[in-house]
Amino acid sequence: MGSRRDPIGVFDSGIGGISTLRNMVKLLPGENFIYYGDLKNAPYGTKSTAEVLRCVRGVVAHLLEQRIKALVIACNTATGAAAATLRKELDIPVVAMEPALKPASELRRDGKILVMATPLTLNQPKFEKLMAQYGAGAEKVPCVGLMELVEQEDEEGARKYLEGLFSRQDLDRVDAVVLGCTHYVFLKAMIREMLPEHIAITEGNEGTARQLRRVLQRADLLSDAAEGSVTFETSGDEATLETMRRWLARKDPGSGPA
Ligand code: DGL
Repeated sequence: MGSRRDPIGVFDSGIGGISTLRNMVKLLPGENFIYYGDLKNAPYGTKSTAEVLRCVRGVVAHLLEQRIKALVIACNTATGAAAATLRKELDIPVVAMEPALKPASELRRDGKILVMATPLTLNQPKFEKLMAQYGAGAEKVPCVGLMELVEQEDEEGARKYLEGLFSRQDLDRVDAVVLGCTHYVFLKAMIREMLPEHIAITEGNEGTARQLRRVLQRADLLSDAAEGSVTFETSGDEATLETMRRWLARKDPGSGPA
């Protein structure tokens, strides 16, 4: 077990989990975070469960060497593939995330819920379980290639991709859209602009930050420091570390002038 001032390890296949990190830093400013973007192995969403589990094990081994007191899987895809295994194997708290289908189901009237996520997330038994419980009216929308557009900061490409995706739907019949991949949360403002007002948009970042606080509180591991830190690491190109720092402070595409 760790101690209060030990860091919290957070990871994703790339920059997507920085959208989750933003919420965590805001809620828990006294914590020290190590954010790891596994860019060498990105994307996770089109790999097999076994492949993602192997990648995740590598990342986690590296984070454990730095004496993390808790682990946050800031990636829906890695959660489906690895959370249950990691919870069995690790003796530190593991916080994971899943597509925010439950809140979407509470907002649904009699229309559809579109669940945007990676193919692997949508094909996981974990997601099938969620669908069985809260999936009335829900449609799986695998978004192959969308995370790459976010990584490349290709705002116009993302806009075209989303326009194509939504043009294939009867939006009058849609009640909610779930952003079931942490990369897509960076497109939330853009998506909000594109969709009619009656459609709710849900995502799990705020809930994940609150869950982290609860878990740390329960384990008596909340930092007592006034100020914390964020350190970025990657298995990819060193140059992306600067990009990651920028994304933590960045305004989302479509949210108006910076
Ligand atoms: N950001 C990840 C998620 O939340 C996945 C992106 C990918 O590597 O395919 O699912």
